[in-house]
Amino acid sequence: MAGDGWVLGQLEAPAPELTLVAAEAIAASHFGIVGRATPLVSERDQNFRIVVADGRAFVLKVSNPKDGDDALQLQARAMLHAAQVDPGLPLMRPIPGGRSQAEVADEVGGRQLVRMFTFMPGRHLEIQELTPEALWGLGVCAARLTRSLRGFFHPAAARPSVWNLRHLLELKPLLEGVQDPRHRALVAMALEDFGDHAQAAFPGLRAQVIHNDLSLSNLVFDQEQVVSGILDFGDVAHSALVAELAICAESALARPDGLAALGRLVAGFSSITPLEDQEVELLPDFLLGRWAALAIISSWRLARCPASAAYVSSWQRGLWGMFETAAAAGLPKWRQLVQSVARGERIRPIPVTAPIESLVERRRRLLGAALSPLFYDPPLHLVRGEGVWLYDADGRRYLDAYNNVPLVGHCHPRVVAAVARQFATLASNTRYLHEAPLELAERLVATMPAGLDTVLFVNSGSEANDLAWRLARSFTGGTGGVATRCAYHGISAAIADLSPEEWRAQARPDWVETVLAPDGYRGRHRQEDPDWVAHYVDAIDQAIATLATRGHRPAALFIDTGLTSEGILVPPSEYLVEVARRWRAAGGLLVGDEVQLGFGRSGERMWGFERHRVVPDIVTLGKPMGNGYPIAAVVTRAEIVERFSGDTGWFSTFGGNQVACAAGLAVLDVLEDQGLLPHAGAMGKALLAQLSQLQQAHPAIGEVRSLGLLVGVELVRDRSTREPLPAAGIANSMRDLGVLVGATGPAGNVIKIRPPLVVTAEQVGMVTEALDRALLGNGRL
Ligand SMILES: Cc1ncc(COP(=O)(O)O)c(C=O)c1O
Repeated sequence: MAGDGWVLGQLEAPAPELTLVAAEAIAASHFGIVGRATPLVSERDQNFRIVVADGRAFVLKVSNPKDGDDALQLQARAMLHAAQVDPGLPLMRPIPGGRSQAEVADEVGGRQLVRMFTFMPGRHLEIQELTPEALWGLGVCAARLTRSLRGFFHPAAARPSVWNLRHLLELKPLLEGVQDPRHRALVAMALEDFGDHAQAAFPGLRAQVIHNDLSLSNLVFDQEQVVSGILDFGDVAHSALVAELAICAESALARPDGLAALGRLVAGFSSITPLEDQEVELLPDFLLGRWAALAIISSWRLARCPASAAYVSSWQRGLWGMFETAAAAGLPKWRQLVQSVARGERIRPIPVTAPIESLVERRRRLLGAALSPLFYDPPLHLVRGEGVWLYDADGRRYLDAYNNVPLVGHCHPRVVAAVARQFATLASNTRYLHEAPLELAERLVATMPAGLDTVLFVNSGSEANDLAWRLARSFTGGTGGVATRCAYHGISAAIADLSPEEWRAQARPDWVETVLAPDGYRGRHRQEDPDWVAHYVDAIDQAIATLATRGHRPAALFIDTGLTSEGILVPPSEYLVEVARRWRAAGGLLVGDEVQLGFGRSGERMWGFERHRVVPDIVTLGKPMGNGYPIAAVVTRAEIVERFSGDTGWFSTFGGNQVACAAGLAVLDVLEDQGLLPHAGAMGKALLAQLSQLQQAHPAIGEVRSLGLLVGVELVRDRSTREPLPAAGIANSMRDLGVLVGATGPAGNVIKIRPPLVVTAEQVGMVTEALDRALLGNGRL
């Protein structure tokens, strides 16, 4: 039997049945209120409105005999507590004077507890009638009421109750009472959803005593549709805070503009009590849960109490339509929609078919032809990220082993909270004093070798490199730049010139020279040649000489410390030591571009240049610095910035703003507190070991190269000829298997793996397994 019998016990307890005459007599004899009684509706009690000669009105409530003294005391105390905390709330109250409650004998010798309350004037409204302002006000009202009860407790609040969603699943045995098989299936779906999402989360949710029945039937409104009365504390219980919101919003989705209406109501609630992420996530499940409770309990009552059929069947108004809409959308998509409006996102109707195609077309039309192509075929339509996971619009999740920006995991709660907190406090610029950029600068400098003591904040890696270029020009007086042959450093005019990866044919600017990257596997000089490193080093002399013939003295040599777009190369450390020595001897500065490898990706070490055993003159930071919030920086020596300041003024409106710095500081905190540098080192080693083993089994893996959690897997059609095997097809197959990786390298044949540093050993295994399976299918999965 359900809930050891308490469920049926509660449902079956008959409501009292006093006559109007008896009610008037009780009102007069016990409360001194002489007036005319008219019946009011109630599920389990019996309520009367008593109007006295001068027009004043009261409510006489005859309680269900099943409700003991303690339950009634709970209700009265809750009302008084809320009224004391928030005197502006239009609460129904026990009439003052200590005579609000009495015990009377009924006609058959039973005893009833009767109470007298103030009558709240106002009109009941249907959900369809509420204006957008009223919906907002309703949410505000619910939030104020829960806020006023936040500090309240009474032991009876913990009693089991059929209306407390905490106990919803105990109603399951009554599901059979839902007569229509289609309806029964919908309710079963809701119960299953609640079981899957909400039930296990319950113990961790914000919980307190709530009204627990703050639906429109327990609210009255004035002419302006402002709540003028909050009625009936009969279901007060200790439950999840979000349950109060779900109950209050139970019928919003029955409106034609349901999602927008729900959004208004939730926004009103959130204006007083912002929802926690988990509450937003579970709101749809609590809505489904409430609908299930309404469906099951009303069906049970309809089958047994024809007298109250009109009242009880009103609970089902709009209910099946809302269930059907959710089912038709598919619960994952419907949940996302509800979550989106709860987050305050504006929802437009989503086309039922082919959304990807229409997004592709709009992207092409609106964002233009120059924008880089989409990843994967078909492309991914992402809607959410969490930790290492990304979710698409159909609710499918992917292990993100590609994106290095979400360094500490997508939407890391500490970073999100830090940004939200600061954005709600102050978002200004560095022409005012503030601690945040100073603290961030101090903490960055503390991670750098001595001498790199000055930080200039900007907003992107491109800007950082552009500024580095300007600093180098001003300090050296030179005008010549060098980058590796397939490097990428950014999008500004100068830096696009220094990004040969993006050059179209013949685009080489005369002030830029390139050097071959030290690729010992596929490059011009290979590991088989004992002098291969020296050959690559010599290229810098040639570049200096060529620049000189065009009238350019060295200014800056840019090196991505992970040589990422070169195919993720791991040359011996003497390579860069010697290149830097020769370049500096010719008067140039070394720019260490840490936009890819910085912030611990190389494992153990914070910066990629550390493994090259060189100290750049200028270090540029970006991408992962704010875990997705735009922030970037240049770190260099004070003397270099002083020279620059002699040439020009410098200021970036958003560079170093407090919100960006809050993100940067939170990222550093998480790196430290979660021990992510050593973790990245360990995970990088594990991945390398697994991939090296995979190499034994797959002739298509020519070489595996790694710098911590920046890993390149070079694919070949034939190991002896090293003919490149395009990596994009394999990456596409891996996406089909639920793992996201990319393709890089001059020949596009290197699988690029860069998971967030929080990736676990199990997830590392998933990456390897997906690559294994994709290679078995050889791109045809
Ligand atoms: C090594 C390197 N430097 C600089 C940049 C430019 O950064 P952003 O796109 O933030 O301007 C990139 C971007 O991919 C990069 O990989």
